[in-house]
Amino acid sequence: MITGKNMRAAFYTRQGPATEVIRVGDQPKPAPGPGEVLVRLHTSGVNPSDWKTRRGGGNRQLFAPLIIPHSDGAGIVEAVGEGVPAVRIGERVWTWNAQWQRAFGTAAEYIALPSAQAVPLPAHLGFAEGACLGIPAFTAMQAVRLAQCAAGMRVLIPGGAGSVGHYAIQLAKLRGADVIATVSSARKAEHAANAGADHVINYREDDVAECVQTITNGAGVDVVLEVDLTNNAKAYPRILRPGARVVVYGTSGPEALLPSVALMQKSIGLQFFMIYDIPERDRQECLAELGRMLDENRLRHTIALSLPLEKTAQAHELLERGEVIGNVVLAVD
Ligand SMILES: NC(=O)c1ccc[n+]([C@@H]2O[C@H](COP(=O)([O-])OP(=O)(O)OC[C@H]3O[C@@H](n4cnc5c(N)ncnc54)[C@H](OP(=O)(O)O)[C@@H]3O)[C@@H](O)[C@H]2O)c1
Repeated sequence: MITGKNMRAAFYTRQGPATEVIRVGDQPKPAPGPGEVLVRLHTSGVNPSDWKTRRGGGNRQLFAPLIIPHSDGAGIVEAVGEGVPAVRIGERVWTWNAQWQRAFGTAAEYIALPSAQAVPLPAHLGFAEGACLGIPAFTAMQAVRLAQCAAGMRVLIPGGAGSVGHYAIQLAKLRGADVIATVSSARKAEHAANAGADHVINYREDDVAECVQTITNGAGVDVVLEVDLTNNAKAYPRILRPGARVVVYGTSGPEALLPSVALMQKSIGLQFFMIYDIPERDRQECLAELGRMLDENRLRHTIALSLPLEKTAQAHELLERGEVIGNVVLAVD
């Protein structure tokens, strides 16, 4: 539903390079439908899937005539639709799945979305931090849950300085695991260590499997939380202990070649997931565990850069080039 008034938004009507297709201008301000809240957004978080969807290709087609990108964001509930308690008005919230199978995401002054997708944001967290939760922190939470990370387990987190990886290190440590992270530079090594990684390996300079063997006294790790199955799977036979589990949230190519005989002989479990589409029960358990961590202020958030809404295209380009350590957030207000 729209109200007849306008709002500022970043949007595109065709897929392609960021600076060619993203425009910033007026769009109709939405109104909350039944079961929805209207959020006045302060921030919008940019994630790799936002630029991949905008660029198109593969099975990512433009599914609506006009897309306002981004699933993550934070702001204040300004109005509620039928069936939503008025007490929510004025609540500080963060969003999840705001542009998953929905045309209008958070790169705008306002969003109307189902009430459950606007989660209370603790008072000690800023709106920029709130815009890092819907995809990066949520994905890390689900990866750690699916891997059943627990005290004493050895967990390998490739890409430990990535947005998801950085939260994954923290969440695995909070569950008492022993964490080995891989990175590609000294700056990223410091970032992963600051998140709590017990061991950090530079995967461009060192043989990761050899390092894992040394660190684990030849035993291998119990779990891998994988950012790039395509490139990293070949080392699994030397990295994983028998019965280990690999939870995959990222892959750099459409396909990955698996050392299948070795994985079978070691009875390795392989699990993929996409955070947009996890079962409702998992969603609730993630929200509960993540909510506790946020309430207790136990997570570090890394805002690499905050840009104005007008610079949405540049924010996409920065992420696409992989130049930032941490999250890129748009300041909408
Ligand atoms: N399944 C899901 O639901 C889900 C959710 C969120 C994200 N993702 C996907 O997960 C990936 C990471 O997302 P993100 O937001 O964390 O991105 P990010 O902030 O760009 O982090 C990715 C990190 O991985 C590192 N990396 C790349 N290739 C690597 C390799 N072969 N081994 C070890 N590290 C490697 C990168 O650094 P260097 O290049 O310097 O090594 C970077 O630090 C993206 O492909 C994204 O689309 C999937």
